[in-house]
Amino acid sequence: MESRIPEEIVEEVRFRADMVEIVSGYVNLQRKGKNYLGLCPFHTEKTASFTVNQEKQMFHCFGCHVGGNVISFLMRKENWTFPETVRYLADRYGVLLPQEELSRSQQQEQKSRKRWTQILDWAAMFFSENLLSHPEGAAARAYLEGRGVSEKMIHDFRLGYAPNRWDTLLEALRERGVEPEELAEAGLVIEHSPKKYYDRFRHRVIFSILDSRKQPVAFGGRVLDDSTPKYLNSPEGKFFSKGRHLYGMNQAHQGIREKGFALLVEGYLDVIALQQAGWINAVASLGTALTKEQAKLINKYTQRVALCYDSDAAGIQAALRAGEILYQTGLRVDVVSLRDAKDPDEIIRAQGEKAFQEALDQAKTYVEFKFHTMMAERPPQTIPEKAVLVTRLAPDILAVKSPVEREGYERFLSFELGLTLEAVQREILSQTREASKLSRKREYSNKTKDISVNNRDTINKQEDQALAPVTVTVPQGVYGAEWILLRLLEEDLSRLPRLEAELGSGFWRVPIHEKIFLALRNAGSRDFLSYDDEEMLNVWSHILTREIDITQADKIFMDCVRTIHAADREDRVEDLQVEMAQREKSGDFAGAVALLKEIGERLKRDEK
Ligand code: GTP
Ligand code: MN
Repeated sequence: MESRIPEEIVEEVRFRADMVEIVSGYVNLQRKGKNYLGLCPFHTEKTASFTVNQEKQMFHCFGCHVGGNVISFLMRKENWTFPETVRYLADRYGVLLPQEELSRSQQQEQKSRKRWTQILDWAAMFFSENLLSHPEGAAARAYLEGRGVSEKMIHDFRLGYAPNRWDTLLEALRERGVEPEELAEAGLVIEHSPKKYYDRFRHRVIFSILDSRKQPVAFGGRVLDDSTPKYLNSPEGKFFSKGRHLYGMNQAHQGIREKGFALLVEGYLDVIALQQAGWINAVASLGTALTKEQAKLINKYTQRVALCYDSDAAGIQAALRAGEILYQTGLRVDVVSLRDAKDPDEIIRAQGEKAFQEALDQAKTYVEFKFHTMMAERPPQTIPEKAVLVTRLAPDILAVKSPVEREGYERFLSFELGLTLEAVQREILSQTREASKLSRKREYSNKTKDISVNNRDTINKQEDQALAPVTVTVPQGVYGAEWILLRLLEEDLSRLPRLEAELGSGFWRVPIHEKIFLALRNAGSRDFLSYDDEEMLNVWSHILTREIDITQADKIFMDCVRTIHAADREDRVEDLQVEMAQREKSGDFAGAVALLKEIGERLKRDEK
């Protein structure tokens, strides 16, 4: 007797579970660029063709063509049903399942989470009432007005004010039946001596940190003047962890999809100022260094981030660290530098929206930013110092997939450092050899001698073989064009109208490609997989684990469109040839000659 698990729980489980971690329990994985490789657990093999793609959270075996995501991996490996698998993962990654699935202690936890949510919601309502309609809130209203925050933002972000007394929140919520102990647990009051409590937030503007349902999960409070500490935040708690949330994300996820990138900033007020000015893709971490989880959260919606941290020394260091984490997560990172302004809020206020747009247009890539920072910190004086600088940038440059872009960086370094391009390239390449020596060592120590993780050619060849259509015969070029188009859609679903404008939607020749296309289009998101459709899982995982140079997406897109058009024209010519042969046979020579002429014309047209 298994009840249906709600879709959002499945999504949450998939988001939290780490494919690499799960697979590592069964397979000895070796890192290879963005992918991990190991011996396939589903068939016997001596060379590793089992691939896990960390970024897409998919696996695919280029030997036996089995593939899927974390859920289908466990279903296959453990022979579990879908609900069994989801329940296992939910348990392992701390996702709560719906009531009827819960044990008593889990039910208890869910009850207290509900209560916690309710209390925080009441608190947010209380803070906002104080700001909007109490005489005591006048100073805070004036403060926000002075900072240019609009009524709409005050409402959308659930801003508030905590009065300048010790027990207003305590009293207000006591009237709703909330005990001081509960408030203490929610981080809203502090127990200064046994059973004696006072409000944590006093005389501060309150920023509600909202989840996707616009429910507060924590608060930040800013002073109205220059006193310190400038900000107070809710402490971490049973249900709240700073590293898991991004300020503004509850609205920004839509904007991030729309704009195609996330704008990551430092301050709450930066997010508000930016969103107010139309950068609806702005988010911030919660006053702490960016975490991997936050990077993954951003990566759910986009592949690109523009970082715009404070322009002071601390901001630059923080940007380097955040950039590193985002970069490692597989995001493309650009860094915005602000001139004559501390942060985005300030530049918009002092110099206008255009000034910020200009700064955004002039964003540097993460590699350039890191280079300039290192140059400014300690300009290399000698050749060995220059070499050190190049080697420090080598891992970032080697992580760049596009050869064109990579060479661009190499040229940039050669120009900036006054070295020949060749020398820079050799220095960077020597880093790969260093790295491969290292990983070979690790390989032996792990007793997985057969894995040639350093041999890129082998892998590519395997991939190409695996790519040959297995069940359908269509021209190789068309087959490739179709899956690449699917991949480009997955990367950015907003390409759909263009695709349909170019090719319509009935052009697919490979049935499974068409099936995937329809599922993707109907779902309107990447979450369309059906777990009982093995063929779909296998093919889709294959498409996602292949490397394509996404920086060339537009060019690749058009190449694929052309390939499909060309194949269609060829088909028409072939049809005509068949018909011509028939007419010849039936004695209709005049008709045959006419067709021959038409074929000739078509071929001539195609050559152009
Ligand atoms: P304004 O100075 O009012 O423009 O605010 P800001 O948001 O620009 O602040 P700032 O750039 O100084 O800080 C960025 C973020 O760091 C804030 O939004 C807070 O989340 C956090 N932060 C700043 N100061 C403090 C502090 O004193 N304590 C804590 N816990 N966090 C702080
Ligand atoms: Mn600021």
